[in-house]
Amino acid sequence: MLGPEVRLVLAVSLDGRLAPAHGGPAQLGGRGDRRALEEALCWADGCLIGGRTLRLHRTTCLIRDADLLGQRQRAGLPPQPMAVVVSRHGHFDPALPFFSQPLRRGLLLSGAAAAAGTPPGFGLHWPLEAWPQTLGQLQAAGLQRLVLLGGAHLAGQLLAAGVVQELQLTLCPQVLAGPHSWVPERAMPPVPTGWQLLEHRAIGDGELLLRYGSPTAPPSRPDPCESAC
Ligand SMILES: NC(=O)c1ccc[n+]([C@@H]2O[C@H](COP(=O)([O-])OP(=O)(O)OC[C@H]3O[C@@H](n4cnc5c(N)ncnc54)[C@H](OP(=O)(O)O)[C@@H]3O)[C@@H](O)[C@H]2O)c1
Repeated sequence: MLGPEVRLVLAVSLDGRLAPAHGGPAQLGGRGDRRALEEALCWADGCLIGGRTLRLHRTTCLIRDADLLGQRQRAGLPPQPMAVVVSRHGHFDPALPFFSQPLRRGLLLSGAAAAAGTPPGFGLHWPLEAWPQTLGQLQAAGLQRLVLLGGAHLAGQLLAAGVVQELQLTLCPQVLAGPHSWVPERAMPPVPTGWQLLEHRAIGDGELLLRYGSPTAPPSRPDPCESAC
């Protein structure tokens, strides 16, 4: 079965870092990147977010632009894509502002945690299996288009599993150094080479938007928001 379309969306420094050397909740992109991120969210049915990224940022990104919200409404989509958090145990501080954000929340849980029921604050959960099977579960729940919001650990796993169809990277004019590359430092299974350049565009403030299609499974599905314009 063809799984959901997965688009990895990250803001990265010129030296390929997604966070400063000391770590913490990185905000690398400017206004152009924010727009590109919201356009990706507008396209999506759901977002995949690593547990550590959620704990550090305490919220997830919302579509704020009125035009984009209007496009989703005309396409018959909910205002925001569902936030699907990935975690081994599902322990999150219930005081996180994330739990007050106006969106649907789902959780992908590994092991025994998945058998223990849906943790408070989440509307539903799924067990984590191999990524193609896990994504198949999300697709069966109506999530056909997924934006993968990182961080590196989560992004690396989906890339290694060969289930990412598109990379959308905003190259930001900073050099950060340090260990936080946008893929994990440790070795991982080889990722196919030969990504196809789909778009390159200056988006202001010295930032460059780069979109690459997977060499094995290029993006295919039409954008429901564009067809609603
Ligand atoms: N520049 C950008 O665009 C951007 C975007 C996103 C993040 N970031 C930055 O990236 C950093 C965080 O990235 P990170 O790589 O350290 O962490 P991460 O990928 O966000 O999260 C790792 C966590 O995700 C969960 N997880 C991942 N794979 C799993 C699996 N197969 N099974 C179960 N749980 C799984 C685990 O959560 P539990 O601990 O709950 O088990 C794990 O600890 C932060 O500095 C953040 O600011 C930057």
